[in-house]
Amino acid sequence: MTHALPQGSTAERVTLRSALRDLPAYKPGKSAAVAGTVQYKLSSNENPYPPLPSVRESVAEAAAGINLYPDMACETITEAVARRWGVSPASVSFGAGSVEVASQIIRAVAGEGDEVIFAWRSFEAYPILTALAGAKAVHVPLTQDERHDLPAMAAAVNEHTRVIFVCTPNNPTGTSVTADELHDFMAAVPKDVLVVIDEAYVHFNVDPAAAQGIDFFRAYANVVILHTFSKAYGLAGLRIGYAIAPDYVSAALRAVAIPFGVSALAQKAALASLAAEEEIEARISSLVTERDKLQRGLVEIGWDVCPSEANFVWLRIGATTREIEDIFTHAGVIVRAYPGDGIRISVGAPEANDQAIHAARDAFNHFTTTSALAQEI
Ligand SMILES: Cc1ncc(COP(=O)(O)O)c(C=O)c1O
Repeated sequence: MTHALPQGSTAERVTLRSALRDLPAYKPGKSAAVAGTVQYKLSSNENPYPPLPSVRESVAEAAAGINLYPDMACETITEAVARRWGVSPASVSFGAGSVEVASQIIRAVAGEGDEVIFAWRSFEAYPILTALAGAKAVHVPLTQDERHDLPAMAAAVNEHTRVIFVCTPNNPTGTSVTADELHDFMAAVPKDVLVVIDEAYVHFNVDPAAAQGIDFFRAYANVVILHTFSKAYGLAGLRIGYAIAPDYVSAALRAVAIPFGVSALAQKAALASLAAEEEIEARISSLVTERDKLQRGLVEIGWDVCPSEANFVWLRIGATTREIEDIFTHAGVIVRAYPGDGIRISVGAPEANDQAIHAARDAFNHFTTTSALAQEI
């Protein structure tokens, strides 16, 4: 789907950038909004836990100062993140969510005539941000088992390539890349191409073989890692994310950032969240247990689920996606549908996940019947 720009009399219209013409629309997960019925919103990879008391307190305190601009340099949270990762504060830069940082990266590095490579399907903001920068998006299909095809991505590099996104775990499939695979990939990528390791869901990844972005940032001069406070830390509504990048790249990201883009509330909440690492870890581990329960439940029903290392699971169901989405919706479970491709179910509170498993049973019966019919035709 692309943005439909309203038509009107051309005489009185200003000229919009042609890049907007075919811009894919970002589709947020649907809300649970049917009055009088219990509905679980499992469509946006949100954290089902409410904010920690210490985080609420810090936000309430910061609210007393919202007549003032926030610290544009994000100094205190920059230092805290730098300490957390053992990197220089000069390597850390912020944005209003990691999606804004991704936009900064593309705008700082790629423009007209340049190319940005990413796996597909992956995070749907990549093609939008690339098009907005005037650059060309290069989609490299995932493998049959829903993983990044890193050799194919390396083979797609040419003299126009400026940025490559490696989303691990990948949204929406939940698969992650291993350290060995990523080292081989890095060896094949020219040193002047920026490799962005988008680790929005890294906290949920328990695969010991998985690549850890920070190791790659330390080992290679052309790596940026992208982190967010939206998912494991549960601050999606406050909008704060960051990059750890070589110092000169960080300086470029700050240069293209929207001034005062990260609110004081977000900065303070992120700081309080870092100080509550133990409580956050306990929540992450419960979510991982719930994810594994959801995954097991789906497999027991008969669904072919690729193992997820994120806070969601992916069902590739192709043409029946819309119908399957409806079955979930009727059962009170709002999932994220990618028409023609599949659905993504975020991990929610235990009863929401139980209801998703319940709905998945009806959905599976429909799926198998429809597939059988399609084969007969
Ligand atoms: C892979 C990936 N990266 C980045 C983001 C952006 O998250 P935020 O802007 O909330 O930090 C998302 C959000 O869904 C995501 O899935």
